[in-house]
Amino acid sequence: MKPAIFALTLFSSAFAVAPIPTAQQAKDASNYVPNAYIVEFSEEALSRRSLISRHEVYAAISQKGIPFSIGEEYDTPGIFTGAAIWLSSPGDVAKLSEIPGVQAIRPVVKVPAPKPVGLTVVKNPMTTGLPDSYSTHVMTGVDKVHARGIFGSDINIGMYAHLRPGIDYNHPLLGGGFGPGYKVPGGYDLVGDAFNGQNAPEPDNDPLDECNGHGTHVAGIIGASPDNDMGINGVASNASLFSYRIFGCIGYTTDDIITTALIQGYNEKMDILTLSLGGPSGWTEGTASVVASRIAAQGRVVTAAAGNDGQEGAWYTSDPGGGIGVISVASVDNIVSSVQNASVQGVDHDPIPYFMALPLNATGDWPIYATSTDISQVNDACNPLPDDTPDLSGFVVIVHRGTCEFTQKLSMIAEKGGKVALIYNSDTAAFSPIAVGNFPAALISAADGKFLVEQFVAKANITISFPQTGAAATIPNPDGGLISAFSTIGPTFPMYLSPALAAPGGNILSTLPLKMGGYGVESGTSMSTPFVAGAAALIFESLGTAAEVQSTGGTKNGEMAEVGRAVIRILQTTAASVASTHTDGAPPRTVAQQGAGLIQVDRAINMKTIVEPGQIALNDTDHFKPNHTISITNMGSKVVTYQLQHIPAGTISTVAPNFPFVESVPIVVSANAVVTFSRSSVTVYPGDTEQFHAIFTPPSGVDNKTLPVYSGFISVTSPAETLKVTYMGVAASLKATTILDSTDEFFGISLPAVINADGYPQERPTNYTFVGRDFPYLLLRQVFLFLRHRLWLTSAHRLVFGTALVRFDLVDKDIQFTPTIPLSKRDPYTGWWSQSTARTFGKVKTIGPLGQVEYQARSIDDPSNGYDSFAFQGTFANGTRIDDGQYRPLLRALKVGGDRSKEEDYESWVGPQFGVVTP
Ligand SMILES: *[C@@H]1O[C@H](CO)[C@@H](O)[C@H](O)[C@H]1NC(C)=O
Ligand SMILES: *[C@@H]1O[C@H](CO)[C@@H](O)[C@H](O)[C@H]1NC(C)=O
Ligand SMILES: *[C@@H]1O[C@H](CO)[C@@H](O)[C@H](O)[C@H]1NC(C)=O
Ligand SMILES: *[C@@H]1O[C@H](CO)[C@@H](O)[C@H](O)[C@H]1NC(C)=O
Ligand SMILES: *[C@@H]1O[C@H](CO)[C@@H](O)[C@H](O)[C@H]1NC(C)=O
Ligand SMILES: *[C@@H]1O[C@H](CO)[C@@H](O)[C@H](O)[C@H]1NC(C)=O
Ligand SMILES: *[C@@H]1O[C@H](CO)[C@@H](O)[C@H](O)[C@H]1NC(C)=O
Repeated sequence: MKPAIFALTLFSSAFAVAPIPTAQQAKDASNYVPNAYIVEFSEEALSRRSLISRHEVYAAISQKGIPFSIGEEYDTPGIFTGAAIWLSSPGDVAKLSEIPGVQAIRPVVKVPAPKPVGLTVVKNPMTTGLPDSYSTHVMTGVDKVHARGIFGSDINIGMYAHLRPGIDYNHPLLGGGFGPGYKVPGGYDLVGDAFNGQNAPEPDNDPLDECNGHGTHVAGIIGASPDNDMGINGVASNASLFSYRIFGCIGYTTDDIITTALIQGYNEKMDILTLSLGGPSGWTEGTASVVASRIAAQGRVVTAAAGNDGQEGAWYTSDPGGGIGVISVASVDNIVSSVQNASVQGVDHDPIPYFMALPLNATGDWPIYATSTDISQVNDACNPLPDDTPDLSGFVVIVHRGTCEFTQKLSMIAEKGGKVALIYNSDTAAFSPIAVGNFPAALISAADGKFLVEQFVAKANITISFPQTGAAATIPNPDGGLISAFSTIGPTFPMYLSPALAAPGGNILSTLPLKMGGYGVESGTSMSTPFVAGAAALIFESLGTAAEVQSTGGTKNGEMAEVGRAVIRILQTTAASVASTHTDGAPPRTVAQQGAGLIQVDRAINMKTIVEPGQIALNDTDHFKPNHTISITNMGSKVVTYQLQHIPAGTISTVAPNFPFVESVPIVVSANAVVTFSRSSVTVYPGDTEQFHAIFTPPSGVDNKTLPVYSGFISVTSPAETLKVTYMGVAASLKATTILDSTDEFFGISLPAVINADGYPQERPTNYTFVGRDFPYLLLRQVFLFLRHRLWLTSAHRLVFGTALVRFDLVDKDIQFTPTIPLSKRDPYTGWWSQSTARTFGKVKTIGPLGQVEYQARSIDDPSNGYDSFAFQGTFANGTRIDDGQYRPLLRALKVGGDRSKEEDYESWVGPQFGVVTP
């Protein structure tokens, strides 16, 4: 008997060894739609006489004997020409690339419903004092722009919303109707309510959202009509909103549909396209990213959510937000939170604020009961309450925060009949909303909780009541104005600044479908993204070009496109940098999480100075250039002298030292880049442009193995204005950075590995028949598992960093090749040391390719999908059966910035010997 897999060491207490997946689990964890590809046609080839139409491309595919069906078709020259192709055999994808006119083949990617960050439905429109959108307008200067009468008139905004798409246009704040003349004059439902990602979409012309509400929330942030009881107020309430619905009521969508919707929005002349959606990537190369980049290059503004994956650490940006020129938007917490006030009777005490948007559903006066009389007992009510506890149904139960989940405490209280509970804060935890499940309970402050426990101990005659109207209030949010903890941390693997900037996205009140109550508070980069779309509409209107566009019959002129391309720079150079904490003197939050900072729309619109470029990507040490030229243009009527200053935003260690995993919380290290200027100040005459040079030196004394990401701002200040250029770089060579996990931390066995279906790694030579098991997919995010009962195999690997290419080849069992990762000692294969490192990729003697995947995100710690795998079925990538014989698998992963044609730019691993035998 071989020993079963067992855990050796754990790399942290939060990191449990994951069970090795079955083939089915690995398949379900895949990000890709099996056998579906978006094939881009070369426009040059299509325009050549020899190959004049897409039909000839299809005919050529048929002539190759490839069975296929056609999904979405794309026909917008300059943006995208191609088709989604569904194959019946996984092997055929290699043949597709040989078809003349085929320029690129990208897999169809599933875009999942986002992790909701929080939703509170507000049912009573008369409730006052909610965190009205006015506070977010004050944070960003939008109130000042509105005061000048600018509301985004004549601007068309195309909305693409995540999870809960579409708009409830019947909402009174969203115009109360649909069609020409309304706030929502148009739009399209590309999928239908019943679409779940796996069934056929049923498009129609009506993008009404009644099933969930995300799109309606997003629409209200951009365009809700002002002057209502709720204090809700769109950023660009005169803009026209077009809804492109791409999610059904449940399930996920796919990027072939997102691509269609983006191109449709482009062709329908949207000035701004806003995507409250995205999935982890780290690259700029997904179809939707590429298409979004090309649309942005045409001068349309494209905003996309940075992502809600802040807890995963750096290097985890979302697609299509990572697209070049796409404005990827981070989230800042609202400066206010909504609370309700409980009243105290019997003793003299101020009303007690509790964290709920709506009153707790409890009428009458309630006496109190404390589950512990000791205010220092933090594990209060984590265990069943004592037998002598009275029936708690008539009391408001007071319980201390700490040790276990809130819902555990509340279920212990419910076991004793408790119906209403107030959880009092610890002295250290943030006073902010908590998750209480369906229990009627809310958080109160530590001081109020201690007071109530004292009254209970003193047997005071005290009761509490929860007024059902008129007790709402806003309180300052202690984290208000800081980057939301959930906001994704960049940069992309090719070192682009993503996110580009930030906007309010934490604790945002907006509209919900009327059927869901009409109003609600939600959080996420899905909320900050439409805010920036609204801001772009204000910029378009105030720069005067929108009216010109109207007068020329709606055709885009060059000036409009120029403004569109400049929006990202205008917003970045005028943004306010966000501090890392509210402590005096705290450095700014890393640019990797805030981008250029919180947008300031009034400054953007009133700008009298152009500073270019808006951002400087210093890349890694291999591609670092110290000397950058920055220009200042004075658009005012007076001579202005600008002072230059470097404001570092700190350096973060993104990877654990000597342990190649990305830190889930980047560690701020005390080392900054040094920036010197060719001049200390710059004087510019009206209408003139002057330049200066900024000379960068990356931080010294940092450990390059920790991939230290350094960043900051160069401020350009006149007596009237402050502008800035945002920079970021990494003080390490990305090409020297580990890609493949070769530890045993995740599954308890050294990776990469070949694993059988029973959960055992293959260590000794083993024969397989590859018969009897239907396993028809090339599982792109799967392990190389070769297995069950020796019928098939899968190989498992993890990517500690992203890679542009993972390639699997079949090699001879006695191949002379030295992989970068040695195979376990039990295997007879010893490898071979080359005298020369100048081997190139093509010179490695392989028998044939088994498969490859491109532009992979890094793996995360999630036991259910924190790995990649590749299923091997006894065939080459082209579907041809492998001859009987003894072989090994060769796995190679391209290093970031590596050259695909150079063997030395890959990490590699040669797997255990296996035989292909005819049964
Ligand atoms: C307790 O206070 C209530 C009013 O809040 C009063 O009606 C009641 O008589 C008091 N009971 C005692 C025992 O003092
Ligand atoms: C409030 O509580 C009462 C009694 O427990 C219940 O009947 C009612 O449905 C609740 N209302 C809401 C809005 O949950
Ligand atoms: C960094 O350098 C690599 C290699 O030349 C390049 O592919 C990448 O685009 C560069 N990144 C930026 C932000 O320019
Ligand atoms: C930076 O580059 C400019 C030209 O682009 C050059 O004039 C200047 O001398 C350079 N500065 C340094 C310190 O190399
Ligand atoms: C760190 O620096 C050393 C010495 O310059 C170099 O050999 C190594 O490749 C660097 N590693 C990284 C990840 O940059
Ligand atoms: C695998 O099959 C080959 C050819 O049939 C045979 O020679 C060899 O002994 C087998 N190896 C194992 C480990 O079963
Ligand atoms: C499939 O690929 C293998 C390995 O590269 C090659 O030997 C074989 O000829 C190919 N088959 C076809 C039908 O192209």
